[in-house]
Amino acid sequence: MNARKIIAVAGATGAQGGGLVRAILNDPQGGFAVRALTRDPSSAKARELARLGAEVVQADIGNEASLERAFAGAHGAFCVTFFWDHFSPERELAEAGAMSRAAKKAGVKHVVWSTLEDTRKWVPLADERMPTLMGKYKVPHFDGKGEADRIFTELGVPTTFLLTSFYWDNFIFFGMGPKKDASGQLAITLPMADRKLPGIAAEDIGRCAYGIFRQGSSLIGKTVGISGEHLSGSEMADEFSRALQQKVRYNEVAPEVFRGFGFPGAEDLGNMFQVKRDFNDAFRAPRDPATARALNPALQGFRQWLEANKSRIPLE
Ligand SMILES: NC(=O)c1ccc[n+]([C@@H]2O[C@H](COP(=O)([O-])OP(=O)(O)OC[C@H]3O[C@@H](n4cnc5c(N)ncnc54)[C@H](OP(=O)(O)O)[C@@H]3O)[C@@H](O)[C@H]2O)c1
Repeated sequence: MNARKIIAVAGATGAQGGGLVRAILNDPQGGFAVRALTRDPSSAKARELARLGAEVVQADIGNEASLERAFAGAHGAFCVTFFWDHFSPERELAEAGAMSRAAKKAGVKHVVWSTLEDTRKWVPLADERMPTLMGKYKVPHFDGKGEADRIFTELGVPTTFLLTSFYWDNFIFFGMGPKKDASGQLAITLPMADRKLPGIAAEDIGRCAYGIFRQGSSLIGKTVGISGEHLSGSEMADEFSRALQQKVRYNEVAPEVFRGFGFPGAEDLGNMFQVKRDFNDAFRAPRDPATARALNPALQGFRQWLEANKSRIPLE
């Protein structure tokens, strides 16, 4: 008989969910088993998770029936949406609805919902400091997630609301790494003035989620914010200089300049950084690295993450 508690993990082949899958598999005596959700169990990433010992099941977070099957018999569920695949807060809301209803129907005892703030509590739509996007959002990839929180609450799903932070992995995968300026010097570009940005290794998000499942019912109904470290643009540039052994400077730009960069999502991210800059204390306060470290003693700081990942950062 398998007495281990099953955690069903959305996004299991991705960054956040993958970190959780590995955290569970790396702790075989921890009392938990993992069920990895994927749209395609035959993919290389899904087969790798199966090889490592995960139960792999087919599910699409937009398909409620598939979620009901995937959540059946599970003790816990990790729920996350994938904004950058489609750029639609409405779709995130619909998917959060499907996941919460499926968790309720399956009688899941503990959901961890990977969320972010609805920034409109700080910057109402009428506030002209930043443009309103898509008709009713200030930071679409935050606002939809924050708005979805109430769906879990209203359905009475036993949920911990996990407030995540900027992935340092964006310096590898999201085009945010150091780039050469006109004079040939490397620079990181952020519209954060001298304010500090809470950041985290994406892998640590899943490890913290595992800590939440282990802690159990005491965190149900609570919002838990996590980060690895809070650093200013200059402090991150100094760490890059140290790790790469060449000068990297912090190129501070105004949010409106960042919004005008023209890549998909530039306006959304420009508004996001402006919120993080202008509401810095309120944004940082719930993301205490000490909270994350208590959940995940292996939590990395920026220097440690950079040392391990510097060779993966594309430099022009
Ligand atoms: N980048 C940041 O700094 C940052 C910070 C905080 C929060 N976030 C948020 O993190 C979220 C993304 O999480 P992530 O980075 O872990 O994602 P990710 O690494 O892009 O992983 C996505 C995985 O989810 C699966 N997936 C995609 N669409 C799916 C669907 N419809 N149904 C089921 N599975 C699906 C895919 O797996 P299969 O192909 O195997 O199905 C994929 O491997 C975004 O909403 C973003 O706003 C990002």
